[in-house]
Amino acid sequence: MARKIFIAGNWKMNKTVAEAAELLAGLKASAGRIGNVDVAVCPPYTTLAGAVAALKDTPIMVGAQNVHWAASGAYTGEVSAAMLKELAVDCVIIGHSERRQYFGETDATVNQRTKAALAAGLLPIVCVGETLAEREAGKTEQVVKTQTEAGLAGLDPAQAAIVTIAYEPVWAIGTGKTATPQMAQDVHAFLRGVLAGMFGAETAGKIRIQYGGSMKPDNAAELLAQPDIDGGLIGGASLKAEDFLAIVTSA
Ligand code: 13P
Repeated sequence: MARKIFIAGNWKMNKTVAEAAELLAGLKASAGRIGNVDVAVCPPYTTLAGAVAALKDTPIMVGAQNVHWAASGAYTGEVSAAMLKELAVDCVIIGHSERRQYFGETDATVNQRTKAALAAGLLPIVCVGETLAEREAGKTEQVVKTQTEAGLAGLDPAQAAIVTIAYEPVWAIGTGKTATPQMAQDVHAFLRGVLAGMFGAETAGKIRIQYGGSMKPDNAAELLAQPDIDGGLIGGASLKAEDFLAIVTSA
């Protein structure tokens, strides 16, 4: 089953509104080079409205980096799915390893956020991945299986088909260490089997699994050539329009 490649840029906590203007202008100027690939940028909340406006006439989607599960209420510092939809945001990253590591994100809250995103019509990008210690202990498959099963628990196959999984080995994020294409492919194929167990093989064949972790213009093509790697979640290299678009065009 053909899955359309999906490249998303996770800006993390980078770029003020003023700093983002140049990057957004660069993306807009080169958006005509985007072929048959889904593309999204995920800036900080403060730049979401500006990004939607700047990229309006381009095929580039805009995503947030988190979403709360409640519609509204006493949740200081959180943002609801309806608030994102109001800004015409398309997608949302959920359960990034930095949220898990520094902000107490758990598989249970990932599940709640994912359900809220789906209910609001946002495309969730649900992140999974093992730490270096977990990989060295031979626990990679166990860790990503638990994160995936708990994160997507209770979804029906039609909802699951809309979700994108991002496999991001924590030891490869921001370190310059990329998983080899074969290492990544092995985990992606394993994850596809986990998804088939949860939702059936047909649905598992529709779910896109992005790779993330030091993906750059010079290693993207080889990673994206793997049969179960359906895109990328790009950190550092998404902060330069040229690099990000080079990854998009290598897809
Ligand atoms: P880097 O591409 O900077 O390694 O970050 C990957 C990532 O965490 C994307 O969400």
